[in-house]
Amino acid sequence: MSGDEPTTVLITGANGCIGSWALKCALERGWRPIASDIAAEPTRPHLLLDQATLAGIPWIQADIADTDAVNQVFSEHAIDAVVHLGALQVPFCKADPVAGARVNVVGTANIMEAVRANGIQRFSFASSVAIQGTADAKNPYLGTLYGAYKSANEEMGRVYWQDWQVPSIVLRPGLVYGVARDQGMTSATTKAILAAVAGRPYTVPFSGAIGLLYTREVANAFLEGAARNYRGCHVFDINGINTPMETFLDLIRAEVPGADISAAGDPLPFPAELSDEPVRALLGDYGLTSVADGVSETIAQFRPLLDRDLIDLSQLDR
Ligand SMILES: NC(=O)c1ccc[n+]([C@@H]2O[C@H](COP(=O)([O-])OP(=O)(O)OC[C@H]3O[C@@H](n4cnc5c(N)ncnc54)[C@H](O)[C@@H]3O)[C@@H](O)[C@H]2O)c1
Repeated sequence: MSGDEPTTVLITGANGCIGSWALKCALERGWRPIASDIAAEPTRPHLLLDQATLAGIPWIQADIADTDAVNQVFSEHAIDAVVHLGALQVPFCKADPVAGARVNVVGTANIMEAVRANGIQRFSFASSVAIQGTADAKNPYLGTLYGAYKSANEEMGRVYWQDWQVPSIVLRPGLVYGVARDQGMTSATTKAILAAVAGRPYTVPFSGAIGLLYTREVANAFLEGAARNYRGCHVFDINGINTPMETFLDLIRAEVPGADISAAGDPLPFPAELSDEPVRALLGDYGLTSVADGVSETIAQFRPLLDRDLIDLSQLDR
């Protein structure tokens, strides 16, 4: 961890899975998070933080694709660091490509411009493993519009350093799992854990090896990426632990005997074996979580949330 920590970190996409965890982990570091999202109020962060804690975090409803709205956020708060996570995921970009480009490309341009205009030197943002795919028959990985938009973001980050010395840590998460992961192409692994705890049958619609990256771990990596000025635009894979699907399901079954969970279908069209050594070499220890520990913690968190009726189980049918 850096000794030179920011007091105030703006987190975009704060109502998302990683954003919710980034709020929690920022508080755990003693940072002052400011939450921003297009959502009017926090729903996913409620799964991780109690009402009183959440009430202490400023919540700003803003569309990142709206330049004036983004500028207003930066003018109204003294922001030391930015973790930019707001985005539309693979299925949403495919369903509405123009909206995907507005949010993922224009939205990121708005954040980068605000970071530049405000002289912010601590900045991390999300790319994705989907960047590995291209619509090229020789590439084994799936090309997606989402990946194309993330490619644009990465190159924008490089040019912002080249032209204006705006530094950034750009992380390409693989398959993130944990409480609050309820949407997107690879959320099915978290749904398998939820289904097991809820006593529902569930089939993960893909098989093979998966890179399993725990929510707390990836959130802390983004925060670490905004902990200081790393000088340059540094782009990293962050894959988590390469795990056979059956091993993952067995870890759930070990904690929830009799769980009716399985996997079927083709392997995911993205790599599972990318190395996290380069990102660790720069950021240091941001908290490696074994799959056994991540599954165990997720189960322990889902149980009381289900008891309190705070989880919408209809997500298992989507
Ligand atoms: N979860 C993963 O496995 C994974 C993998 C690779 C990359 N990523 C990237 O990490 C980031 C966070 O992912 P996540 O899993 O938390 O996603 P998520 O879908 O749970 O959260 C994204 C958040 O962005 C917000 N958002 C959408 N449009 C917006 C807009 N116009 N203005 C402001 N906010 C808007 C949404 O309301 C949502 O709260 C994203 O950039 C995503 O592309 C995630």
